[in-house]
Amino acid sequence: MTGAAGPALAAGHGTGEKGDPLPVLRHIVEAQQFDRASMARIFAVAREMEQVVQHYGSNILNRRVMATLFYEPSTRTRLSFESAMRRLGGEVITTESAQEFSSAAKGETLEDTIRIVGGYADIIVLRHFESDASRRAASVSSVPVISAGDGPGQHPTQALLDVYTIEREIGRLDGISIALVGDLANGRTVRSLCYLLAKFDSPRIYFVAPEVVRMRGDIKGYLDRHGIRWEESDDLGAVAGEVDVIYQTRIQRERFGDRVQEYQQARGHYIVDRAILERMSADAIVMHPLPRVDEITPDVDQDPRAAYFRQAHNGLYVRMALLRMILAGP
Ligand code: CP
Repeated sequence: MTGAAGPALAAGHGTGEKGDPLPVLRHIVEAQQFDRASMARIFAVAREMEQVVQHYGSNILNRRVMATLFYEPSTRTRLSFESAMRRLGGEVITTESAQEFSSAAKGETLEDTIRIVGGYADIIVLRHFESDASRRAASVSSVPVISAGDGPGQHPTQALLDVYTIEREIGRLDGISIALVGDLANGRTVRSLCYLLAKFDSPRIYFVAPEVVRMRGDIKGYLDRHGIRWEESDDLGAVAGEVDVIYQTRIQRERFGDRVQEYQQARGHYIVDRAILERMSADAIVMHPLPRVDEITPDVDQDPRAAYFRQAHNGLYVRMALLRMILAGP
């Protein structure tokens, strides 16, 4: 991808797994732009960030300004990015509900908004309701753009924190078996996660979804082209005993519009409850990008295998790492 701000990844400093130069991070618009070496570097910095938060703080982004433009609701992504920037000594300017409270309400295009905000901030974090919005924004931006989720398209920083969580919790990334459960057609987190899982050796992916929200063909085709084993199942109980990770997702009511009947057909099929936990191995985990509605029962929360709140907290460290690497170098 090229644009006013140049390619998403440009040659730069740092060292990859085989001693090759690591690309310098610029825009983050899709999960495919990351490889094992760049993830390893991001995760190493994220671990440093855990220490920064616990012990001494940092001013490395002093006088730098991050703009958060959110055209869709968010708790975790917006607040963890804003916390990340502040914990590194930077400043935040923000417009939530941007469709209503920014000049988008007067008809301004996304491209014009990005051109303007790039004059006020050193980096833009964008959540939008259209699948290609971050790429469009990056193509006209004078400053780095980070996708904070593009409609039903992708959520690449969520996928990075998800992989970071799997490594932290399970202790490895090769040979992982994972069940992706719920709204796989509209779930941008699971779509981005598939791209990242394909970078590791011999993952095994189970798709467990109601008929109306099964994983789309583009992701299945990508996995096929990369020799990744995947299968579909309608039996979460059976799959639960086979996997290291159950990655549950919410049925996304907001993506169905007036297709109320389809939404009703999709919801309530696959619930992670105590009965599912009993089928899981002692060292498997349950993940969820959150928010949840009713697809994980509250009595699961007390089980040590419930990793979803730890997963959300990891978002802070991974986003601190990304901001530091983009704004202060690898
Ligand atoms: N996981 C996630 O993207 O959560 P938010 O919608 O709260 O940002």
